[in-house]
Amino acid sequence: MKNRLSRIINPKTGHTVMLAVDHPYFQGAIEGLVSPRETIWPLLPYADALMIARGMLRNTMDAGMETPVILRVSGGISILKEDLSDEEITTSVREAIRLNASAVALSVYVGSPHEKQTLVNLSNLVNECEEYGMPVLAVTAVGREMARDARYLGLASRIAAELGAHIVKTYYCEGFEKVVEGCPVPVVIAGGKKIPEQESLKMAYDALQAGAVGLDYGRNVFQSPDSVAMIRSLRAVVQENYTADEALELFNSLKGEKKKD
Ligand code: R5P
Repeated sequence: MKNRLSRIINPKTGHTVMLAVDHPYFQGAIEGLVSPRETIWPLLPYADALMIARGMLRNTMDAGMETPVILRVSGGISILKEDLSDEEITTSVREAIRLNASAVALSVYVGSPHEKQTLVNLSNLVNECEEYGMPVLAVTAVGREMARDARYLGLASRIAAELGAHIVKTYYCEGFEKVVEGCPVPVVIAGGKKIPEQESLKMAYDALQAGAVGLDYGRNVFQSPDSVAMIRSLRAVVQENYTADEALELFNSLKGEKKKD
């Protein structure tokens, strides 16, 4: 377990830059992931881990890929449904081990119609994963009607940790230090919908300041027209203590480099 965790959270810094590309498991071929290999491959050298579902891993990645994998193992819904919380475990732990995953990930929907089902999914997954030393990352997915505030995200994160999640992924919000304070396992933040690079870098910096161990950004990296510059700048915040302003300066200079090419 510790060995797998140390593949995805750098033991020297205690921080991590995960790249999330698991979205198609319920959203299909979204912008940036239509031809995922082209988008993802240049980003891998700057990611500490890749969060991905089995199909894309199998069909678009190389077996020789060195980036540790966090395998998305829950699903069963599509974006067409009003209620996204009706998820079950879709990929076995045995398959995750066969694919040499360093962790598995699922979503929990606290406060949603299938709250209990998703929390039992988490509990059962942890029970099975403990037998093999496989870390479980719980995503505190937010139903369309749920508020993204510290009270709600703090509640969902703490419940996920209490049920045995080894890492919690949640959204950044005002008062985020309260979410981290109340969660006894490492917390990473999702990026959410694409926002301007400057705001996204600031959110990363603020989350780290509030105690997050890192990021699990998706759209704010792979939907950026300068995705490599973006992940490198986020990495500078997470792994090299850059401020948001310094990271923006780096982003602009890397963007410039690309234009010169
Ligand atoms: C849900 O689609 C997935 O768990 C994503 O990995 C997660 O939402 C993070 O991606 P983004 O930064 O695009 O929100």
